[in-house]
Amino acid sequence: MTMLFMAPKLKASSWVSHLREQGPDIDLRVWPDDGPREEVEFILSWKHPLGEFRNYPNLKCIASLGFGVDHILRDPELPPGVPVTRLVDAAMTRAMSEYVLAAVLNHTRGFTRFLRDQGRGVWQPRVPLHPSEVRVGIMGMGTLGRDAAGTLLSQGFPVAGWSRTPKQIEGVAAFAGPEGLDPFLTRSDILVCLLPLTPATREILDRQLFARLPAGAYLINAARGDHLVEEDLLAAISGGRLSGACLDVFRTEPLPAGHPFWGHPRIVVTPHIASLTYPGAVAPQIIANYHRVRAGQAPLNAIDFEKGY
Ligand code: NAP
Ligand code: GLV
Repeated sequence: MTMLFMAPKLKASSWVSHLREQGPDIDLRVWPDDGPREEVEFILSWKHPLGEFRNYPNLKCIASLGFGVDHILRDPELPPGVPVTRLVDAAMTRAMSEYVLAAVLNHTRGFTRFLRDQGRGVWQPRVPLHPSEVRVGIMGMGTLGRDAAGTLLSQGFPVAGWSRTPKQIEGVAAFAGPEGLDPFLTRSDILVCLLPLTPATREILDRQLFARLPAGAYLINAARGDHLVEEDLLAAISGGRLSGACLDVFRTEPLPAGHPFWGHPRIVVTPHIASLTYPGAVAPQIIANYHRVRAGQAPLNAIDFEKGY
C-alpha cells in the first residue's frame, strides 16, 4: 500500500524524512513520482492539483496536511466514498491560541500604533483597553475556538462563542445557529473567526455582519480568506464601523503585490502563519492512520461530508 505525498507547495524533503524515520516500513512516494498508480491507497494532501485524485483508482484515504479540509473538498472530482481526514494537534492548537491572544493584545495595547509613532519619533501615550471591558466573540467553538477561548478567559477577557450546535463551555457565553448569531455579534467588541470554510460560512464576514457588531469593533480572521468579503472590510474600516483588523488568511495567497491590505494603517497582515504544521509532530498520527486503513479500520479524524468539516 503506497502512501503518496501530494503537496506541491510544501517542502517535501522535511515531510519525507520525518515519515521515513517514524514509519520505515511505509512505501512512501512524492507526487508526481508516483510509481504504479493502482498501488497508491493513501494520499497526503495540501493544495493538490484539482482533478489529480481521479488518477488513483484504489484510494482508501485522503489525509489533509492541515486542520482544514476545504482545499480537498473543493476538488470537483473528489473520488466518492473515500474518507478524508484532517490533522488535530496540540502544538498547532496552542500556536493558534497564541496568535489570537497576540492579535487581541496588539489591539488592546495599541502596539501597531506605537510602532508607527516610533517611526515618526512621536511620544504619545494612550491608555490601553482593559481586558474586562473588551468582549471577545469567537466564531467556531471547535478544537481551535475552545482553546483560544480558554486562553483569553485566563487573561480576563469576557468570551462568547458561536457554533453550529449548542455548547456548554465553562465561563463562555454560548450562542449557536443562525438565530444565535445576532445576539453573539452585538456583544463582540473583538470578533475572531476560527470557522471551517464551508458553503455555509463562505463570505460570512461581510457588510451585513459588520453592521451588527458594536461600532468600532475589531476583526481577527485566522481561518480562511474566503470567509471574508475583502471590499466590505475596507469599506467598514474607512466608514468607521470597524476600527481595524488582523488577518492571517486571504482570498489569494500570497497576498498580491499592490493589494490594498498591504500598507493599510489599520490592518495587520501576517502570511498564513497563525498555526503551522510541524511534520515531525504530526507524523505519528498520519502513520497510525495509514496502519488503520491498511488493517481495514476507519481512519481517525475523518471529516463528515454532510457538514463539510
Ligand atoms: P473544528 O474543530 O472542526 O471546529 C469547527 C467549529 O466551527 C465547530 O465549533 C463548528 O460547530 C463550527 N461551525 C462550523 N460550521 C458552522 C456554521 N455554519 N455556523 C456556526 N458554526 C459553525 O475546526 P478547527 O480545528 O477548530 O479549525 C477551524 C479552521 O481553522 C480550520 O478549518 C482551518 O480552516 C482554520 N485553520 C487556520 C490555520 C491558520 O494557520 N491560519 C491553522 C489551522 C486551522 P459545531 O461544534 O457545532 O460542529
Ligand atoms: C492551516 O491553515 C490549516 O488548516 O492547518
